[in-house]
Amino acid sequence: MLVSAAFFALLLTGTLAKPVTRDLVVHERRDSVPSGFVKEGPASPETMLKLSVGLYSKDISGLQKVLYDVSTPQSPLYGQHLSKAEVDEYVKPTDETVNAVTDWFKANNITATKDTPAGDWLSFSIPVSQANELFDADFTTFTHTETGTKAIRTLSYSLPASLKQHIELVRPTTYLSPRFGIAKASATIYAPVHVVPAPEVSTSADDACSGGITPACLQSIYGIPSTAAPNQDSKILVTGFIDQYANEADLQDFLEQFRTDIDPSTTFSLETLDGGSNPQDPSQAGTEADLDMQYTVGVATGVPVTFVSVGDGGDGFYDVSTWLLGLESPPQVVTTSYGETESQVGIAEANKLCNNYMQLGAQGVTVLYASGDSGVGGSNDASCSAFVPTFPSGCPYLTSVGATTGTAPETGASFSSGGFSNYFGVPDYQSSAVSSYLSTLGSTNAGYFNASGRAYPDVAAQGNEVEIVVGGSTVYVAGTSCSSPIFASIVGLLNSELLAAGKSTLGFLNPLLYSGAASAFTDITSGSNPGCNTNGFPTASGWDPVTGLGTPNYAKLRTAVGL
Ligand SMILES: *[C@@H]1O[C@H](CO)[C@@H](O)[C@H](O)[C@H]1NC(C)=O
Ligand SMILES: *[C@@H]1O[C@H](CO)[C@@H](O)[C@H](O)[C@H]1NC(C)=O
Repeated sequence: MLVSAAFFALLLTGTLAKPVTRDLVVHERRDSVPSGFVKEGPASPETMLKLSVGLYSKDISGLQKVLYDVSTPQSPLYGQHLSKAEVDEYVKPTDETVNAVTDWFKANNITATKDTPAGDWLSFSIPVSQANELFDADFTTFTHTETGTKAIRTLSYSLPASLKQHIELVRPTTYLSPRFGIAKASATIYAPVHVVPAPEVSTSADDACSGGITPACLQSIYGIPSTAAPNQDSKILVTGFIDQYANEADLQDFLEQFRTDIDPSTTFSLETLDGGSNPQDPSQAGTEADLDMQYTVGVATGVPVTFVSVGDGGDGFYDVSTWLLGLESPPQVVTTSYGETESQVGIAEANKLCNNYMQLGAQGVTVLYASGDSGVGGSNDASCSAFVPTFPSGCPYLTSVGATTGTAPETGASFSSGGFSNYFGVPDYQSSAVSSYLSTLGSTNAGYFNASGRAYPDVAAQGNEVEIVVGGSTVYVAGTSCSSPIFASIVGLLNSELLAAGKSTLGFLNPLLYSGAASAFTDITSGSNPGCNTNGFPTASGWDPVTGLGTPNYAKLRTAVGL
Protein backbone atom coordinates (compact mmCIF):
# COMPACT_ATOMS: atom_id res chain seq x y z
CA MET A 1 0.00 0.00 0.00
CA LEU A 2 1.34 3.35 -0.99
CA VAL A 3 0.58 6.17 1.33
CA SER A 4 1.86 9.55 0.39
CA ALA A 5 3.94 11.55 2.78
CA ALA A 6 1.75 14.52 2.12
CA PHE A 7 -1.22 12.65 3.58
CA PHE A 8 0.66 11.99 6.82
CA ALA A 9 1.77 15.58 6.95
CA LEU A 10 -1.81 16.73 6.73
CA LEU A 11 -2.88 14.39 9.52
CA LEU A 12 -0.03 15.40 11.75
CA THR A 13 -0.55 19.11 11.37
CA GLY A 14 -4.30 18.70 11.86
CA THR A 15 -5.14 20.44 8.61
CA LEU A 16 -7.85 17.85 8.02
CA ALA A 17 -10.12 19.63 10.45
CA LYS A 18 -13.29 18.01 9.21
CA PRO A 19 -13.75 14.34 8.33
CA VAL A 20 -13.76 14.08 4.54
CA THR A 21 -16.69 11.64 4.65
CA ARG A 22 -19.14 14.32 5.71
CA ASP A 23 -20.00 15.47 2.21
CA LEU A 24 -22.11 18.40 3.40
CA VAL A 25 -24.44 20.23 1.03
CA VAL A 26 -25.94 23.63 1.79
CA HIS A 27 -29.59 23.11 2.68
CA GLU A 28 -30.93 26.58 3.48
CA ARG A 29 -29.20 29.90 3.24
CA ARG A 30 -30.07 33.57 3.33
CA ASP A 31 -27.90 36.24 1.78
CA SER A 32 -28.19 38.93 4.40
CA VAL A 33 -29.34 39.72 7.89
CA PRO A 34 -33.11 40.30 7.73
CA SER A 35 -34.22 43.89 8.14
CA GLY A 36 -34.94 44.86 11.70
CA PHE A 37 -32.08 42.74 13.08
CA VAL A 38 -28.40 43.41 13.74
CA LYS A 39 -25.66 40.84 14.00
CA GLU A 40 -23.97 40.90 17.43
CA GLY A 41 -21.29 38.24 17.03
CA PRO A 42 -20.68 34.51 17.31
CA ALA A 43 -22.83 32.68 19.84
CA SER A 44 -20.77 31.33 22.72
CA PRO A 45 -19.65 27.77 21.91
CA GLU A 46 -21.05 26.19 25.05
CA THR A 47 -24.54 27.71 24.81
CA MET A 48 -27.08 24.91 24.36
CA LEU A 49 -29.32 25.13 21.30
CA LYS A 50 -32.64 23.35 21.02
CA LEU A 51 -33.08 22.34 17.40
CA SER A 52 -35.83 20.43 15.62
CA VAL A 53 -35.42 18.35 12.52
CA GLY A 54 -38.42 18.00 10.23
CA LEU A 55 -38.44 14.66 8.38
CA TYR A 56 -40.26 13.93 5.14
CA SER A 57 -43.53 12.13 5.70
CA LYS A 58 -44.34 8.79 4.14
CA ASP A 59 -47.33 10.07 2.19
CA ILE A 60 -48.23 13.71 2.68
CA SER A 61 -49.97 13.92 -0.71
CA GLY A 62 -52.13 10.94 0.31
CA LEU A 63 -53.12 12.83 3.44
CA GLN A 64 -53.87 15.94 1.41
CA LYS A 65 -56.26 13.90 -0.74
CA VAL A 66 -57.97 12.49 2.35
CA LEU A 67 -58.26 15.98 3.84
CA TYR A 68 -60.12 17.18 0.76
CA ASP A 69 -62.27 14.03 0.68
CA VAL A 70 -63.45 14.45 4.28
CA SER A 71 -63.91 18.23 3.89
CA THR A 72 -65.72 18.45 0.54
CA PRO A 73 -69.51 18.16 0.92
CA GLN A 74 -69.89 16.46 -2.50
CA SER A 75 -67.53 13.66 -1.46
CA PRO A 76 -68.94 10.38 -0.11
CA LEU A 77 -66.34 10.61 2.67
CA TYR A 78 -67.48 14.08 3.81
CA GLY A 79 -67.33 14.42 7.59
CA GLN A 80 -65.51 11.11 8.09
CA HIS A 81 -62.57 12.66 9.89
CA LEU A 82 -59.54 10.55 10.67
CA SER A 83 -58.32 9.52 14.10
CA LYS A 84 -54.94 10.71 15.24
CA ALA A 85 -53.52 7.23 14.61
CA GLU A 86 -54.86 7.20 11.04
CA VAL A 87 -53.34 10.60 10.33
CA ASP A 88 -50.02 9.49 11.83
CA GLU A 89 -49.86 6.58 9.37
CA TYR A 90 -49.60 9.08 6.51
CA VAL A 91 -47.31 11.46 8.32
CA LYS A 92 -44.73 9.17 9.83
CA PRO A 93 -41.44 8.95 7.94
CA THR A 94 -40.49 5.73 6.13
CA ASP A 95 -38.30 3.17 7.92
CA GLU A 96 -35.50 4.12 5.55
CA THR A 97 -35.72 7.75 6.68
CA VAL A 98 -35.96 6.81 10.35
CA ASN A 99 -32.94 4.51 10.07
CA ALA A 100 -30.80 7.01 8.17
CA VAL A 101 -31.52 9.78 10.62
CA THR A 102 -31.15 7.54 13.67
CA ASP A 103 -27.73 6.39 12.46
CA TRP A 104 -26.66 9.97 11.91
CA PHE A 105 -27.82 10.96 15.40
CA LYS A 106 -25.99 7.96 16.90
CA ALA A 107 -22.78 8.78 15.09
CA ASN A 108 -22.96 12.26 16.57
CA ASN A 109 -24.02 11.27 20.08
CA ILE A 110 -27.36 13.04 19.73
CA THR A 111 -30.38 11.96 21.73
CA ALA A 112 -33.52 13.19 20.03
CA THR A 113 -37.12 13.12 21.20
CA LYS A 114 -40.27 13.04 19.09
CA ASP A 115 -42.25 16.30 19.06
CA THR A 116 -45.21 14.63 17.35
CA PRO A 117 -46.54 11.08 17.75
CA ALA A 118 -45.89 10.50 14.03
CA GLY A 119 -42.20 11.15 14.63
CA ASP A 120 -41.82 13.56 11.71
CA TRP A 121 -40.46 16.27 14.00
CA LEU A 122 -37.50 15.38 16.24
CA SER A 123 -35.88 17.72 18.76
CA PHE A 124 -32.53 17.68 20.51
CA SER A 125 -30.23 20.01 22.42
CA ILE A 126 -26.56 20.42 21.53
CA PRO A 127 -23.94 23.08 22.23
CA VAL A 128 -23.36 25.79 19.63
CA SER A 129 -19.88 24.39 18.95
CA GLN A 130 -21.29 20.99 17.97
CA ALA A 131 -24.13 22.56 15.94
CA ASN A 132 -21.63 24.67 13.97
CA GLU A 133 -19.58 21.57 13.20
CA LEU A 134 -22.49 19.25 12.46
CA PHE A 135 -24.28 21.62 10.09
CA ASP A 136 -21.30 23.63 8.83
CA ALA A 137 -23.15 26.57 10.35
CA ASP A 138 -22.19 29.82 11.98
CA PHE A 139 -24.61 30.26 14.87
CA THR A 140 -24.59 33.93 15.69
CA THR A 141 -26.39 36.18 18.14
CA PHE A 142 -28.79 38.60 16.45
CA THR A 143 -30.64 41.43 18.14
CA HIS A 144 -34.04 42.67 17.10
CA THR A 145 -33.42 46.44 17.11
CA GLU A 146 -36.94 47.50 17.95
CA THR A 147 -37.32 45.36 21.06
CA GLY A 148 -33.74 44.51 21.99
CA THR A 149 -34.58 40.81 22.10
CA LYS A 150 -31.80 38.42 21.12
CA ALA A 151 -31.87 35.17 19.20
CA ILE A 152 -29.25 32.69 18.04
CA ARG A 153 -29.52 31.81 14.35
CA THR A 154 -27.28 30.99 11.41
CA LEU A 155 -27.48 32.48 7.92
CA SER A 156 -26.71 29.11 6.38
CA TYR A 157 -26.60 25.41 7.27
CA SER A 158 -25.74 22.21 5.48
CA LEU A 159 -26.76 18.57 5.67
CA PRO A 160 -24.94 15.40 4.65
CA ALA A 161 -25.83 14.76 0.99
CA SER A 162 -27.16 11.31 1.91
CA LEU A 163 -29.72 12.85 4.27
CA LYS A 164 -31.18 15.45 1.92
CA GLN A 165 -33.90 13.09 0.76
CA HIS A 166 -34.87 12.41 4.38
CA ILE A 167 -34.69 15.80 6.09
CA GLU A 168 -36.93 18.68 5.05
CA LEU A 169 -35.39 21.26 7.34
CA VAL A 170 -33.67 22.04 10.60
CA ARG A 171 -35.10 24.81 12.71
CA PRO A 172 -34.71 27.42 14.07
CA THR A 173 -31.78 28.16 11.81
CA THR A 174 -31.88 30.64 8.93
CA TYR A 175 -35.17 32.14 9.84
CA LEU A 176 -35.21 35.23 11.99
CA SER A 177 -38.68 36.47 12.50
CA PRO A 178 -39.55 39.06 15.11
CA ARG A 179 -42.08 36.67 16.54
CA PHE A 180 -42.51 34.35 19.45
CA GLY A 181 -39.57 33.72 21.65
CA ILE A 182 -37.71 36.45 19.85
CA ALA A 183 -39.53 39.70 20.25
CA LYS A 184 -42.38 40.79 22.42
CA ALA A 185 -45.24 42.82 21.03
CA SER A 186 -43.28 43.81 17.97
CA ALA A 187 -45.23 45.97 15.59
CA THR A 188 -44.78 43.34 12.90
CA ILE A 189 -46.76 40.83 14.92
CA TYR A 190 -50.29 41.97 14.40
CA ALA A 191 -51.39 41.39 17.92
CA PRO A 192 -52.32 42.88 20.29
CA VAL A 193 -55.21 44.75 18.77
CA HIS A 194 -55.23 48.50 19.11
CA VAL A 195 -57.61 50.61 21.11
CA VAL A 196 -59.78 53.01 19.10
CA PRO A 197 -62.03 55.91 20.10
CA ALA A 198 -65.65 55.21 21.02
CA PRO A 199 -67.96 55.40 18.01
CA GLU A 200 -70.36 58.27 17.57
CA VAL A 201 -73.65 56.93 18.81
CA SER A 202 -76.75 56.43 16.64
CA THR A 203 -75.26 56.45 13.19
CA SER A 204 -76.12 52.82 12.71
CA ALA A 205 -79.22 51.48 11.06
CA ASP A 206 -79.17 48.55 13.44
CA ASP A 207 -80.01 49.70 16.97
CA ALA A 208 -78.17 46.81 18.60
CA CYS A 209 -74.95 48.13 17.05
CA SER A 210 -75.38 51.87 17.57
CA GLY A 211 -72.93 52.04 20.48
CA GLY A 212 -70.28 49.80 18.91
CA ILE A 213 -69.89 46.09 18.37
CA THR A 214 -71.12 43.93 21.26
CA PRO A 215 -72.42 40.36 21.50
CA ALA A 216 -75.99 41.67 21.13
CA CYS A 217 -74.98 43.52 17.97
CA LEU A 218 -73.38 40.39 16.50
CA GLN A 219 -76.44 38.32 17.41
CA SER A 220 -78.53 40.88 15.60
CA ILE A 221 -76.50 41.31 12.40
CA TYR A 222 -75.32 37.72 11.93
CA GLY A 223 -78.33 35.98 13.51
CA ILE A 224 -76.17 34.24 16.12
CA PRO A 225 -78.35 32.42 18.67
CA SER A 226 -78.25 33.61 22.28
CA THR A 227 -79.55 30.30 23.61
CA ALA A 228 -77.06 27.86 25.09
CA ALA A 229 -75.37 25.41 22.74
CA PRO A 230 -77.13 22.04 22.91
CA ASN A 231 -74.04 19.84 23.16
CA GLN A 232 -71.03 20.34 25.43
CA ASP A 233 -68.60 18.30 23.34
CA SER A 234 -68.09 21.14 20.86
CA LYS A 235 -65.01 23.01 22.07
CA ILE A 236 -63.08 26.14 21.14
CA LEU A 237 -59.39 26.74 21.84
CA VAL A 238 -57.99 30.30 21.92
CA THR A 239 -54.21 30.67 21.65
CA GLY A 240 -52.28 33.35 23.54
CA PHE A 241 -48.67 34.48 23.13
CA ILE A 242 -46.29 37.34 24.02
CA ASP A 243 -47.44 37.63 27.67
CA GLN A 244 -51.04 38.29 26.72
CA TYR A 245 -52.98 37.12 29.78
CA ALA A 246 -56.71 36.45 29.83
CA ASN A 247 -58.30 38.04 32.86
CA GLU A 248 -61.25 36.25 34.49
CA ALA A 249 -62.56 39.33 36.34
CA ASP A 250 -62.62 41.26 33.06
CA LEU A 251 -64.60 38.45 31.47
CA GLN A 252 -67.08 38.47 34.35
CA ASP A 253 -67.41 42.26 34.12
CA PHE A 254 -67.93 41.95 30.35
CA LEU A 255 -70.63 39.30 30.76
CA GLU A 256 -72.37 41.41 33.46
CA GLN A 257 -72.49 44.34 31.04
CA PHE A 258 -73.06 42.64 27.69
CA ARG A 259 -74.59 39.23 28.39
CA THR A 260 -77.08 39.95 31.17
CA ASP A 261 -78.95 36.82 30.03
CA ILE A 262 -76.22 34.35 31.02
CA ASP A 263 -74.38 33.39 34.22
CA PRO A 264 -71.64 36.05 34.64
CA SER A 265 -69.37 33.51 36.30
CA THR A 266 -69.12 31.55 33.03
CA THR A 267 -65.42 31.20 32.40
CA PHE A 268 -62.75 29.31 30.44
CA SER A 269 -60.24 26.54 31.16
CA LEU A 270 -56.52 27.14 31.03
CA GLU A 271 -53.70 25.21 29.38
CA THR A 272 -50.07 26.33 29.43
CA LEU A 273 -47.18 25.51 27.14
CA ASP A 274 -43.48 26.39 27.35
CA GLY A 275 -43.78 27.67 30.91
CA GLY A 276 -46.67 29.95 30.02
CA SER A 277 -48.89 31.31 32.79
CA ASN A 278 -52.00 33.42 33.22
CA PRO A 279 -51.55 35.84 36.14
CA GLN A 280 -54.74 37.61 37.20
CA ASP A 281 -53.54 41.01 38.39
CA PRO A 282 -55.67 43.60 36.53
CA SER A 283 -52.51 45.43 35.45
CA GLN A 284 -51.43 42.32 33.54
CA ALA A 285 -54.69 41.82 31.66
CA GLY A 286 -53.95 41.58 27.94
CA THR A 287 -56.08 43.50 25.46
CA GLU A 288 -55.76 40.74 22.88
CA ALA A 289 -56.34 37.87 25.30
CA ASP A 290 -59.31 39.61 26.95
CA LEU A 291 -60.86 40.36 23.56
CA ASP A 292 -60.40 36.75 22.43
CA MET A 293 -62.01 35.29 25.57
CA GLN A 294 -64.87 37.80 25.69
CA TYR A 295 -65.83 37.21 22.06
CA THR A 296 -65.72 33.42 22.41
CA VAL A 297 -67.19 32.83 25.89
CA GLY A 298 -69.51 35.82 25.38
CA VAL A 299 -70.71 34.86 21.89
CA ALA A 300 -70.53 31.05 21.69
CA THR A 301 -73.09 30.69 24.48
CA GLY A 302 -72.54 27.48 26.40
CA VAL A 303 -69.59 26.26 24.29
CA PRO A 304 -66.63 25.28 26.52
CA VAL A 305 -63.64 27.51 25.74
CA THR A 306 -59.98 26.89 26.63
CA PHE A 307 -57.21 29.48 26.67
CA VAL A 308 -53.70 28.22 25.98
CA SER A 309 -51.00 30.57 27.25
CA VAL A 310 -47.68 29.97 25.49
CA GLY A 311 -44.55 31.07 27.37
CA ASP A 312 -41.94 33.39 25.91
CA GLY A 313 -39.26 30.70 25.93
CA GLY A 314 -41.27 28.70 23.48
CA ASP A 315 -41.70 28.58 19.82
CA GLY A 316 -45.15 29.92 19.02
CA PHE A 317 -47.04 28.28 16.18
CA TYR A 318 -44.71 25.27 16.08
CA ASP A 319 -45.27 24.41 19.73
CA VAL A 320 -49.04 24.90 19.63
CA SER A 321 -49.50 22.83 16.47
CA THR A 322 -47.26 19.97 17.60
CA TRP A 323 -48.99 19.97 21.00
CA LEU A 324 -52.39 19.73 19.29
CA LEU A 325 -51.11 16.88 17.11
CA GLY A 326 -50.33 14.96 20.28
CA LEU A 327 -53.88 15.18 21.66
CA GLU A 328 -56.21 12.21 21.27
CA SER A 329 -59.26 14.52 20.87
CA PRO A 330 -58.16 18.02 19.95
CA PRO A 331 -60.69 20.88 20.30
CA GLN A 332 -62.70 21.17 17.06
CA VAL A 333 -62.04 24.91 16.65
CA VAL A 334 -58.73 26.72 17.21
CA THR A 335 -58.57 30.50 16.78
CA THR A 336 -55.34 32.51 16.61
CA SER A 337 -55.13 36.28 16.36
CA TYR A 338 -51.40 36.42 15.74
CA GLY A 339 -49.29 36.09 12.63
CA GLU A 340 -46.23 37.26 10.84
CA THR A 341 -44.80 38.23 7.49
CA GLU A 342 -44.66 35.26 5.12
CA SER A 343 -41.23 36.08 3.70
CA GLN A 344 -39.73 36.03 7.19
CA VAL A 345 -40.62 32.35 7.49
CA GLY A 346 -38.39 30.10 5.41
CA ILE A 347 -40.33 28.32 2.69
CA ALA A 348 -39.40 24.85 3.96
CA GLU A 349 -40.58 25.75 7.43
CA ALA A 350 -43.76 27.42 6.19
CA ASN A 351 -44.53 24.33 4.17
CA LYS A 352 -44.02 21.87 6.99
CA LEU A 353 -45.90 24.01 9.52
CA CYS A 354 -48.74 24.24 7.02
CA ASN A 355 -48.71 20.43 6.88
CA ASN A 356 -49.30 20.41 10.65
CA TYR A 357 -52.57 22.26 9.92
CA MET A 358 -53.37 19.75 7.17
CA GLN A 359 -53.14 17.00 9.79
CA LEU A 360 -55.39 18.88 12.20
CA GLY A 361 -57.91 19.46 9.41
CA ALA A 362 -57.95 15.76 8.54
CA GLN A 363 -58.82 15.08 12.19
CA GLY A 364 -61.72 17.50 11.96
CA VAL A 365 -60.19 20.61 13.51
CA THR A 366 -61.21 24.03 12.12
CA VAL A 367 -58.04 26.15 12.22
CA LEU A 368 -58.76 29.89 12.09
CA TYR A 369 -56.24 32.70 11.77
CA ALA A 370 -56.75 36.45 11.72
CA SER A 371 -55.56 37.70 8.31
CA GLY A 372 -53.53 40.68 9.62
CA ASP A 373 -54.03 44.36 10.29
CA SER A 374 -51.97 46.25 7.72
CA GLY A 375 -53.96 45.99 4.53
CA VAL A 376 -51.85 44.75 1.63
CA GLY A 377 -48.78 46.19 3.40
CA GLY A 378 -48.59 43.18 5.70
CA SER A 379 -46.30 44.88 8.18
CA ASN A 380 -45.66 48.46 9.18
CA ASP A 381 -43.09 48.92 6.45
CA ALA A 382 -44.42 51.74 4.26
CA SER A 383 -41.55 51.39 1.81
CA CYS A 384 -42.77 48.10 0.34
CA SER A 385 -42.64 47.84 -3.44
CA ALA A 386 -44.70 44.65 -3.48
CA PHE A 387 -47.58 43.53 -1.30
CA VAL A 388 -46.58 41.66 1.83
CA PRO A 389 -48.46 38.40 2.40
CA THR A 390 -48.92 37.21 5.99
CA PHE A 391 -48.27 33.78 7.46
CA PRO A 392 -49.93 31.43 8.18
CA SER A 393 -52.97 32.89 6.36
CA GLY A 394 -51.40 31.83 3.05
CA CYS A 395 -51.46 28.17 4.12
CA PRO A 396 -54.29 26.52 2.15
CA TYR A 397 -55.37 24.15 4.97
CA LEU A 398 -56.75 26.77 7.32
CA THR A 399 -59.40 29.46 7.22
CA SER A 400 -58.21 33.05 7.24
CA VAL A 401 -60.54 35.69 8.68
CA GLY A 402 -60.52 39.32 7.53
CA ALA A 403 -62.36 42.29 9.02
CA THR A 404 -65.32 44.49 8.25
CA THR A 405 -66.35 47.80 9.76
CA GLY A 406 -69.73 49.46 10.23
CA THR A 407 -73.15 47.90 9.99
CA ALA A 408 -75.01 50.33 7.76
CA PRO A 409 -73.75 48.96 5.48
CA GLU A 410 -71.01 46.56 6.54
CA THR A 411 -67.86 47.40 4.54
CA GLY A 412 -64.36 45.96 4.23
CA ALA A 413 -62.05 47.41 6.93
CA SER A 414 -59.12 49.28 5.39
CA PHE A 415 -56.69 47.47 7.68
CA SER A 416 -57.94 44.00 6.72
CA SER A 417 -54.91 42.15 5.35
CA GLY A 418 -55.49 40.06 2.28
CA GLY A 419 -53.83 39.04 -0.90
CA PHE A 420 -51.86 36.19 -2.40
CA SER A 421 -49.20 33.89 -0.96
CA ASN A 422 -45.82 33.65 -2.64
CA TYR A 423 -45.24 30.20 -1.11
CA PHE A 424 -48.48 28.30 -1.66
CA GLY A 425 -50.26 27.90 -4.98
CA VAL A 426 -53.97 28.50 -5.39
CA PRO A 427 -55.92 25.45 -4.10
CA ASP A 428 -58.68 23.94 -6.26
CA TYR A 429 -61.44 24.87 -3.85
CA GLN A 430 -60.94 28.60 -4.47
CA SER A 431 -59.52 28.71 -7.99
CA SER A 432 -62.79 29.62 -9.67
CA ALA A 433 -63.72 32.29 -7.08
CA VAL A 434 -60.25 33.80 -7.31
CA SER A 435 -60.06 33.81 -11.09
CA SER A 436 -63.43 35.60 -11.25
CA TYR A 437 -62.03 38.25 -8.96
CA LEU A 438 -58.82 38.56 -10.97
CA SER A 439 -60.68 39.05 -14.20
CA THR A 440 -62.73 41.84 -12.61
CA LEU A 441 -59.55 43.35 -11.19
CA GLY A 442 -57.88 43.61 -14.59
CA SER A 443 -54.43 45.17 -14.47
CA THR A 444 -54.91 46.94 -11.12
CA ASN A 445 -51.93 46.22 -8.83
CA ALA A 446 -50.20 44.17 -11.53
CA GLY A 447 -46.65 43.41 -10.44
CA TYR A 448 -47.51 43.91 -6.77
CA PHE A 449 -48.80 40.41 -6.08
CA ASN A 450 -48.51 36.80 -7.17
CA ALA A 451 -51.71 35.98 -9.03
CA SER A 452 -51.01 32.23 -8.85
CA GLY A 453 -50.78 32.14 -5.05
CA ARG A 454 -53.27 30.91 -2.47
CA ALA A 455 -55.56 33.87 -1.88
CA TYR A 456 -56.86 35.02 1.50
CA PRO A 457 -58.83 35.86 3.61
CA ASP A 458 -61.58 33.27 3.15
CA VAL A 459 -64.25 35.01 5.20
CA ALA A 460 -64.69 38.13 7.33
CA ALA A 461 -66.42 39.36 10.46
CA GLN A 462 -66.66 42.60 12.40
CA GLY A 463 -63.29 44.05 13.38
CA ASN A 464 -63.75 47.69 14.33
CA GLU A 465 -65.09 49.51 17.41
CA VAL A 466 -65.49 46.22 19.24
CA GLU A 467 -66.30 46.82 22.89
CA ILE A 468 -64.32 44.90 25.50
CA VAL A 469 -63.32 45.15 29.18
CA VAL A 470 -59.59 45.28 29.97
CA GLY A 471 -58.15 45.82 33.44
CA GLY A 472 -61.62 46.84 34.62
CA SER A 473 -62.17 49.52 31.94
CA THR A 474 -64.47 49.34 28.95
CA VAL A 475 -62.63 50.18 25.71
CA TYR A 476 -63.11 49.79 21.96
CA VAL A 477 -60.61 47.85 19.87
CA ALA A 478 -59.97 47.19 16.20
CA GLY A 479 -58.22 44.48 14.23
CA THR A 480 -58.78 41.16 12.48
CA SER A 481 -58.00 39.93 16.01
CA CYS A 482 -61.68 40.66 16.70
CA SER A 483 -62.92 38.86 13.61
CA SER A 484 -61.27 35.47 14.16
CA PRO A 485 -62.74 34.74 17.64
CA ILE A 486 -66.17 35.97 16.49
CA PHE A 487 -66.05 33.57 13.56
CA ALA A 488 -64.75 30.80 15.86
CA SER A 489 -67.82 31.27 18.04
CA ILE A 490 -70.11 30.74 15.08
CA VAL A 491 -68.31 27.54 14.10
CA GLY A 492 -68.39 26.34 17.72
CA LEU A 493 -72.16 26.89 17.91
CA LEU A 494 -72.74 25.12 14.58
CA ASN A 495 -70.57 22.21 15.71
CA SER A 496 -72.58 21.93 18.90
CA GLU A 497 -75.84 21.76 16.94
CA LEU A 498 -74.33 19.22 14.55
CA LEU A 499 -73.22 16.99 17.43
CA ALA A 500 -76.65 17.27 19.04
CA ALA A 501 -78.14 16.13 15.72
CA GLY A 502 -75.79 13.14 15.63
CA LYS A 503 -73.72 14.60 12.79
CA SER A 504 -70.02 15.18 12.54
CA THR A 505 -68.42 18.57 13.23
CA LEU A 506 -67.27 20.86 10.41
CA GLY A 507 -63.50 20.42 10.44
CA PHE A 508 -61.57 22.09 7.62
CA LEU A 509 -64.07 24.58 6.26
CA ASN A 510 -62.79 25.94 2.96
CA PRO A 511 -64.07 23.37 0.43
CA LEU A 512 -67.52 23.76 2.02
CA LEU A 513 -67.30 27.55 2.17
CA TYR A 514 -66.35 28.01 -1.48
CA SER A 515 -68.97 25.59 -2.74
CA GLY A 516 -72.35 25.10 -1.12
CA ALA A 517 -71.96 27.57 1.72
CA ALA A 518 -70.84 30.63 -0.26
CA SER A 519 -74.41 31.91 -0.38
CA ALA A 520 -74.59 31.68 3.43
CA PHE A 521 -72.35 34.73 3.55
CA THR A 522 -73.32 38.33 3.10
CA ASP A 523 -71.20 39.54 0.23
CA ILE A 524 -69.29 42.70 1.16
CA THR A 525 -68.87 44.93 -1.87
CA SER A 526 -67.49 48.20 -0.56
CA GLY A 527 -64.14 49.04 0.98
CA SER A 528 -60.51 48.24 0.13
CA ASN A 529 -57.25 47.50 1.96
CA PRO A 530 -54.61 50.12 1.01
CA GLY A 531 -50.89 49.68 1.62
CA CYS A 532 -47.48 49.97 -0.07
CA ASN A 533 -48.55 53.40 -1.43
CA THR A 534 -51.41 51.83 -3.39
CA ASN A 535 -55.14 51.66 -2.87
CA GLY A 536 -54.76 47.95 -2.20
CA PHE A 537 -57.40 45.53 -3.40
CA PRO A 538 -60.98 46.67 -3.87
CA THR A 539 -63.82 44.53 -2.55
CA ALA A 540 -66.02 43.05 -5.26
CA SER A 541 -69.09 40.93 -5.60
CA GLY A 542 -68.13 37.36 -4.81
CA TRP A 543 -64.83 36.54 -3.15
CA ASP A 544 -62.31 39.37 -2.69
CA PRO A 545 -58.95 39.73 -0.89
CA VAL A 546 -60.33 42.12 1.75
CA THR A 547 -63.38 40.28 3.09
CA GLY A 548 -63.19 36.86 1.40
CA LEU A 549 -66.65 35.43 0.76
CA GLY A 550 -68.19 37.95 3.16
CA THR A 551 -69.69 37.80 6.63
CA PRO A 552 -71.66 34.90 8.10
CA ASN A 553 -75.41 34.51 8.22
CA TYR A 554 -76.07 31.93 10.94
CA ALA A 555 -79.47 30.78 9.69
CA LYS A 556 -78.17 30.24 6.16
CA LEU A 557 -75.07 28.48 7.49
CA ARG A 558 -77.28 26.10 9.49
CA THR A 559 -79.01 25.12 6.27
CA ALA A 560 -75.74 24.89 4.34
CA VAL A 561 -74.29 22.45 6.90
CA GLY A 562 -77.41 20.29 6.85
CA LEU A 563 -79.14 21.40 10.06
C1 LIG B 1 -19.41 10.30 21.11
O1 LIG B 1 -19.17 9.92 22.45
C2 LIG B 1 -18.07 8.99 22.55
C3 LIG B 1 -18.03 8.50 24.00
O2 LIG B 1 -18.23 9.60 24.89
C4 LIG B 1 -16.81 9.66 22.07
O3 LIG B 1 -15.74 8.76 22.13
C5 LIG B 1 -16.98 10.14 20.63
O4 LIG B 1 -15.86 10.86 20.20
C6 LIG B 1 -18.21 11.00 20.52
N1 LIG B 1 -18.45 11.29 19.09
C7 LIG B 1 -18.78 12.51 18.66
C8 LIG B 1 -18.97 12.65 17.18
O5 LIG B 1 -18.92 13.48 19.39
C1 LIG C 1 -45.84 32.77 -7.07
O1 LIG C 1 -46.62 31.71 -6.57
C2 LIG C 1 -46.29 30.45 -7.10
C3 LIG C 1 -47.29 29.46 -6.55
O2 LIG C 1 -47.19 29.33 -5.18
C4 LIG C 1 -44.85 30.12 -6.75
O3 LIG C 1 -44.50 28.88 -7.29
C5 LIG C 1 -43.92 31.21 -7.25
O4 LIG C 1 -42.62 30.97 -6.83
C6 LIG C 1 -44.38 32.56 -6.73
N1 LIG C 1 -43.56 33.60 -7.32
C7 LIG C 1 -42.85 34.45 -6.59
C8 LIG C 1 -42.10 35.49 -7.34
O5 LIG C 1 -42.78 34.41 -5.37
